[in-house]
Amino acid sequence: MEKPVILSIESSCDDTSAAVLRGDRILSNVIASQKVHEQYGGVVPELASRAHQQNIVPVVDAAIRGAGVERREIDAVAFTRGPGLLGSLMVGVSFAKGFAQAQGIPLIEVNHLQAHVLSHFIKETDESVVPKFPFICLLVSGGHTQILLLRDYFDMEVLGQTIDDAAGEAIDKAAKIMDLGYPGGPIIDRLAKEGNAEAYRFAVPQIQGNDYSFSGIKTSFLYFLRDRLAEDPDFIVKNKADLCASIQQCIVGFLMRKLERAVKESGVKQVAIAGGVSANSLLRSEVERLGRRRHLQVFVPKFQFCTDNAAMVGIAGYFKFLEGDFADMALPPYAKG
Ligand code: KG4
Ligand code: ZN
Repeated sequence: MEKPVILSIESSCDDTSAAVLRGDRILSNVIASQKVHEQYGGVVPELASRAHQQNIVPVVDAAIRGAGVERREIDAVAFTRGPGLLGSLMVGVSFAKGFAQAQGIPLIEVNHLQAHVLSHFIKETDESVVPKFPFICLLVSGGHTQILLLRDYFDMEVLGQTIDDAAGEAIDKAAKIMDLGYPGGPIIDRLAKEGNAEAYRFAVPQIQGNDYSFSGIKTSFLYFLRDRLAEDPDFIVKNKADLCASIQQCIVGFLMRKLERAVKESGVKQVAIAGGVSANSLLRSEVERLGRRRHLQVFVPKFQFCTDNAAMVGIAGYFKFLEGDFADMALPPYAKG
């Protein structure tokens, strides 16, 4: 059988995205990021779903045109069912159902977190190198922080995870405390390049095993700044780069320590990172360094596959297509994972 052409839709948070894949090869991946939330310093759910409604038709059209395929060539529609914001998910789910019904093709439901991890199997060329099982993946996004052991595409064991906030959430909150704008991750990453990572130290909690905790780091950062600002109201403005470099170092260092622990414990020789925070330049270089030190094969995703995108939903959909794992037309979205 010829490789299936899959249209995929992602609308779980504040990015509206559609992609087309032929088998595991990506043909197009269109992402419309919503700017409307910047002025509020975070995602406003009602505005997000409204923006998805405005974006979804042009984004899907652009993905199909960009792929150079005809609508009738599409064999299935994959969509993010959850977790995410319910109102946002609803837009993608409804669109996917309507499209599938109109074309008379099957639907495939995809879990957003599995999609982030499976993004490593997207091929841009036939020569693209993908991981082999088993491998470990550090999944770090705005909503999740997990160390996963993958034995197969959909066989993921959680080796460790955050017991409170996600790493991306902590980074975004640190940026918000400094009034840097939203989303804070890319801004901190950029400013940190000019700063001294050893300038300040923030308390990292002692957590058992491979688990993480980020809420204490955030509080420690907040109290530290409150004390310094009492002495000098311009403290943040004067030391912005050093503050960004130090908090980034603190969070990435913590992520890496537990990742290395899990890798050592499991004896697995391949390690990957995924999710929005995997776009962070320090995390990317630290994972590469870990690979050289421990003789591991390292998989760092391309930037377009780090933050939310539909290509990752498409690749997860493709593996489900091969298993004949199709979804019911009546399926509702889910907010929690
Ligand atoms: O995966 P994602 O797009 O959405 C969720 O599923 O949550 O991740 C978004 C998160 C945000 O917290 C954002 O600040 C963070 O990824 N992020 C970064 C960078 N780019 C995005 N964090 C640190 N450095 C970056 N370069
Ligand atoms: Zn995500």
